[in-house]
Order: sequence, then C-alpha cells, then structure tokens
Amino acid sequence: MSSYYELIPDASNLIESQRSVGYTFETAIADIIDNSVSALAEKVDVFFDNQQKYVLILDDGYGMSKKELLQAMRYGSKSVSDVRAKGDLGRFGLGLKMATFSQCRKLTVISIKEDEVSGAIWDLDVVKSNMAWTVQVLDDKEIENTIKFDELTKLKSGTIVIWEKFDKLEQHANFMANFDEVLERTEDHLSLVFHRYLQEKKLIITFNDREIDFVDPFFTDNKATQPKSPDVILESIRNVKIDVKPYIIPYQKRLTQKERHMLKKYEHNQLSPGLYIYRNRRLIAWGKWFKLVRPNELANLAKIQIDIPNTIDDLWEIDVKKSQLVIPRSLRTQLRNIITKSIGESEKVYKHRGIKRNKDNLQYVFNRIEKESKVSYHLNIENPLIKQLQDNLQDSDNRLFLALLKQIEEHLPIESIQYDMASDREIEKQNESDDKVYEEIMLLINNQTSKESKKLLLNSLKYSEVYSKKTALLARIESELND
Ligand SMILES: Nc1ncnc2c1ncn2[C@@H]1O[C@H](COP(=O)(O)OP(=O)(O)O)[C@@H](O)[C@H]1O
Ligand SMILES: [Mg+2]
Repeated sequence: MSSYYELIPDASNLIESQRSVGYTFETAIADIIDNSVSALAEKVDVFFDNQQKYVLILDDGYGMSKKELLQAMRYGSKSVSDVRAKGDLGRFGLGLKMATFSQCRKLTVISIKEDEVSGAIWDLDVVKSNMAWTVQVLDDKEIENTIKFDELTKLKSGTIVIWEKFDKLEQHANFMANFDEVLERTEDHLSLVFHRYLQEKKLIITFNDREIDFVDPFFTDNKATQPKSPDVILESIRNVKIDVKPYIIPYQKRLTQKERHMLKKYEHNQLSPGLYIYRNRRLIAWGKWFKLVRPNELANLAKIQIDIPNTIDDLWEIDVKKSQLVIPRSLRTQLRNIITKSIGESEKVYKHRGIKRNKDNLQYVFNRIEKESKVSYHLNIENPLIKQLQDNLQDSDNRLFLALLKQIEEHLPIESIQYDMASDREIEKQNESDDKVYEEIMLLINNQTSKESKKLLLNSLKYSEVYSKKTALLARIESELND
C-alpha cells in the first residue's frame, strides 16, 4: 500500500526562484498600493530615503489585526476562488510578498486596527539561515522603533509597508542615481495607473510629502477631446456587463503645454492609442489593440476605455502582477465592432486633413498632403526641433510660434520656384557644414535631461530627412553619449 509523505518546499529556494517573475519597481509599488486601495485608504504616503535605503508606504486604510497580519504575510493568503469585495484589487494572495521580494530582501509590515498594533517581518536572509518559512513577529518596543511609526499612530487605522535590502539595485555602481531614477519612473506610473482615483479625489498619493498629479490619457479636460457615446457589452459566459467608452483625442497641435509635457515624459509609447483596460477603475493594460484590429495610422487618435470588474479575472487570464491579460474570446467580436466604429471616427478627423503621402518612412520637414485632387505642403510638426521648442515655450509664445509656422507654410513662394525651375536656372541648395549640423544636434540633445531620452531622440534623428544622411556624425554623437 502506498503511503503519504509531506514534502515541504525549501523556503529559501522557492522564494528566490520567484523573485524574477517580471515585476518592475513601479509595477511592484503599484501592487502594494493596490492593497491600500482595497483597504479603502484615502491617502497613501510613499516615503523614501536613498541614504538609509528604504521605501515605505503608509496608508490610512482599515488596517489589520494581529491575526490578519500574520495571515497577510503568508504566501497564498487568500484563494483565487475567494469572493472578493467589489473594490478589491487583489487576486492571488501573493502580491504583497512577491512584489516586495521582486525588488528587495526585507519586508516589514506594521498595522493598526481598533487599537490593536501589530508588526511582522519577512527577511530572506533569516529564511535562508533558518531554512524555514519563519516570519519575525515584533514586540511593542520593536514596533515603536519602526520608521514613521509616529505617523501611523496619528491615524485611527492604517498600515505601513517597508522595503529594505535592495540587493538588485545595489548591484548598480551608482545606487543613489539609480534609486532616484527608479522613483521618478514610479511616480509617473502611479499618476497613470491610479489616475481615475486621483482625478476624482478619492485617493491622494504623496511622495515624501509632495502630492503627485494624475495623468489622464484621454485629455478629458481638453475641449478638443471628443468623448464618444458609451457602449455596454455583455459577457455571455458570466453574464457580466462591461463598459466601453471611446475617445477621439486631439492632435498634438491642439494639446496644451502641460499635456505636451506629459506626453514627452511618457515617451516609450506609453500613452499610445489603443485599448485602456481598467480593473475596478485601476488601469492595468493600455496603449495597444490586442490584435483586435490591425494597427493603422488612421487609428492614431482613438483611445478606448474599457471597465472590467474583478469577478471575471479568470476569463481575462490576469496574472499575479496584474499586468498581463488576454481578451476573452466571448468579447472579441463585440469589441472589434466598437473599435472599428471609433477608428472610423478617428479616420474622419484625419481624412478631413488629407492624407500624408511621403515617399518613404523618413520624417520630412514638409509633409506632402493629398486631398481629393489637390496637393498641399505642410510643415511637419513632428519635427524634433519644433516639438522641443513647443515644449519649452509658454502657451502665449507657442501661439506666436504656431502663427509663424502657418505663415511660412501658407506663403511658400511656389509660383516663383515654379518659374525658376522652368527657366532652367539652377536653384542653389545651401549645404550646412558638419560642424553646424553637429552644433544643431547637440543643442537638441542637451535639452533632454536623462541619458535615455537623449538616446531616444538621437535615434529618431536617424529617420529625419535632415539628418538621415549624416550617418558618420550621428554615430560619433552616439559614441560620445555612451561614454
Ligand atoms: N495595506 C493593507 N491594508 C489592509 N490589509 C492589507 C494591506 N496589505 C495587505 N493586506 C491584507 O493582506 C492580504 C494579502 O495581500 P496580497 O499578498 O497582496 O494578496 P491579495 O492582494 O491578492 O489578497 C490582503 O488580501 C489583505 O487582506
Ligand atoms: Mg495585493
């Protein structure tokens, strides 16, 4: 007869093996804040210190009793099949632990609920040396000595989560610069993924006591944004309603200076057109069409907000990080219809302006636009020089600048050029010297603050009509940047 033997996993090996599941620093922090939001927090304070090397998240949510805290520290503290509260952003009962250890080796949690104060620590070095799933439970004195504990005691209930021992970040030569950069990215990420909470003032997030702003991917405050009529689609397997709201967003030209700045910050195509999928109003996936339609230049202005509840996570195959999902088969056709309709709208906006007909994929100084049987030439406002100038200008100067561009555009001496061409006279082209071009490129590049954005810009210059042939020069600048 067979017998049963309990095989307890090796704690340290198992935890270590799960550390690289694909969280980034910013998605990991967002996962911790998801817990605060699920605990009905209205204020979340993020504190960090690159000297003492900690990140701390303090919330005024409903907190945990000692028993609940220990349960929360457990891997798999809740089952996927547990019924969740309507606003709960959790999923597997793993986020707190896995998000933390994806970034560091020590997790401290202190919580207050109904005058009961409790605290516990997971430290991967302790787990390793004890060779067991041992969590350290803190006594009152140890709790009192925790960073920012006095801030927590000012609240009726709430929780502190502290991350320490950043082994991965510390491998980098310049920890401080790296830490600061990572936190900047985190702020941008939170401004976007929680933007609806922030916008509706249901949540305040601060970074070292400074309130962070929201980033609205639909620019709903801009009068040029066109919200389309909302749709509801019915998910037939679970009989759940899903709200869909398409937006046609304005052209770059019609964005305010603040909005353009925002776009610039999210340069990695982060605010691209596409679906914007929210789970319990928290943005989880965005900026692509999920293979529902072919990406199309004409869909460039369409963004579609989709609201899903937390009761059908399994259908969307939502992962631990809540960043990966698959559109359920039962919804694809309905969604495709809505998208096609809004792309049609986006298309109309474009057609109205005519269609760009350039010879190749280069960014030209002038775009040649065909509309019906007519042709016109327009200055290409995607030109990096124009873009940067626009970002640096105040709104009033920017209007002047645009007026100047318009004037140049409308008063191209076309007849005169036609006459000269016809009369066999050679039109002299002024060739800029390499030194001049070098200066011009450096002027552009030095306007960028981070090395990363400098590189991105330099790369985009390779595809511009003006600089594409200057390969040697671009290569030289590239190697200078890498030094
Ligand atoms: N900030 C917090 N406030 C109150 N409870 C919390 C907080 N963070 C975590 N918890 C509790 O710990 C549990 C485990 O969290 P987590 O590991 O992130 O899993 P999940 O969010 O999927 O439930 C949560 O379900 C919640 O009960
Ligand atoms: Mg969670």
